[in-house]
Amino acid sequence: MDITINADQLYGELQTLASFTDAPPPAVTRIVFSKTDMAARAYFKKLCTAASLTVREDPVGNTFARWAGREPDLPAIGTGSHTDAIPHAGAYDGTVGVLGGLEALRALQRSGYQPRRSIELVMFTSEEPTRFGIGCLGSRLLSGSLSVERARALVDKDGQSLDQVRSAAGFMGSLDDVGLSRDYYETFLELHVEQGPILEARNIPVGVVTAIAAPASLRIWIEGEGGHAGTVLMPQRHDAFLAAAQIALTVESAAKSTGAIDTVATVGVCDVFPGAVNSIPSRVKIEVDVRDIDLARRDAVLRAVDRACDEVTSQRGVKIRKEVLNVDPPAQSSARAVETLEQSCKEFQIPCLSMVSRAYHDSLFMSRITDVAMLFVRCRAGISHRSDEYASAEDIATGTRVLAHALAHLSDK
Ligand code: GLV
Ligand code: MN
Ligand code: MN
Repeated sequence: MDITINADQLYGELQTLASFTDAPPPAVTRIVFSKTDMAARAYFKKLCTAASLTVREDPVGNTFARWAGREPDLPAIGTGSHTDAIPHAGAYDGTVGVLGGLEALRALQRSGYQPRRSIELVMFTSEEPTRFGIGCLGSRLLSGSLSVERARALVDKDGQSLDQVRSAAGFMGSLDDVGLSRDYYETFLELHVEQGPILEARNIPVGVVTAIAAPASLRIWIEGEGGHAGTVLMPQRHDAFLAAAQIALTVESAAKSTGAIDTVATVGVCDVFPGAVNSIPSRVKIEVDVRDIDLARRDAVLRAVDRACDEVTSQRGVKIRKEVLNVDPPAQSSARAVETLEQSCKEFQIPCLSMVSRAYHDSLFMSRITDVAMLFVRCRAGISHRSDEYASAEDIATGTRVLAHALAHLSDK
């Protein structure tokens, strides 16, 4: 089969998608269900329709673009990723899997190929946790990994519920109807930039992911006592920010103390109230992200954070409330799907590396209802979740070509 990727067109589409941003370019900020996200979705749907794919959206905004196979009743082959972007992100996280997936389908169409099983491209809603605090919202609901009851209880920082926000964006219907059955997809493949430095260091353009690390995140509210920064003397203080800082330092030391390079932990959100230089912080909210490929080690860090909260409560006379946003197990790729991707690399004589994903992805949740594997594309210096994220047009095209071949192989089986 002659699979030719139109690398320039795909790269141009990635740049156009990046122009839908709420941050000054080249930074990309695209928060789920914002006007900018809706404009990006419209652009994506237009490209899918132009490629003669049948587009449907579910009640949470997951968007499916289907190329019907010769045997359309068989479980389909899925591929895709996300287009939402954290504040001040780059142009490639998620988007390479969505627009690369689209170009893979177009390349197969151009080759004259007719799929046996349908091939479906998915753009998942809110892989990023920015708005509702929980990542992979769309794929969690699709795979039954998040109860509809919990999803209904999600609110954004302005107190708007998921139901309010999605219906304002035009996504009606019940969240009960989002879940997919286990025989909806036969296999799901996700193309994604590596977001780490390994492929570049090894001078290898693509990687095949065998497992995805286990993420967990917590939200911690600390309530101390506010007051005048000049007149309340140090022994009388119950500074909520200092309590938060002490917890944050424990997050770091607990992650380091496992001695394993794969344990990572971050405090990426810290909201201080009232936020005035001459006022002692009375309330602070922090959000903690802990990950490891080893579940027991990850959970040991979570327990250390629990203990730190108890200690800080008594040492500093503050009140602490904790919410577990997610504690997910790791996912294993399917050996068969991994082999398919490796075979496709071999077919084109493209060197590939077997690797784990330390970032999470929608595939982590899709693995609960179908066989999954991921294909990573080399990126520059491992930089991601930053505006200077970069992957070359050539490497993206290479990954897209391998994906197209693997999708066709799986569809024919
Ligand atoms: C995904 O964006 C992650 O934080 O791993
Ligand atoms: Mn991301
Ligand atoms: Mn991503």
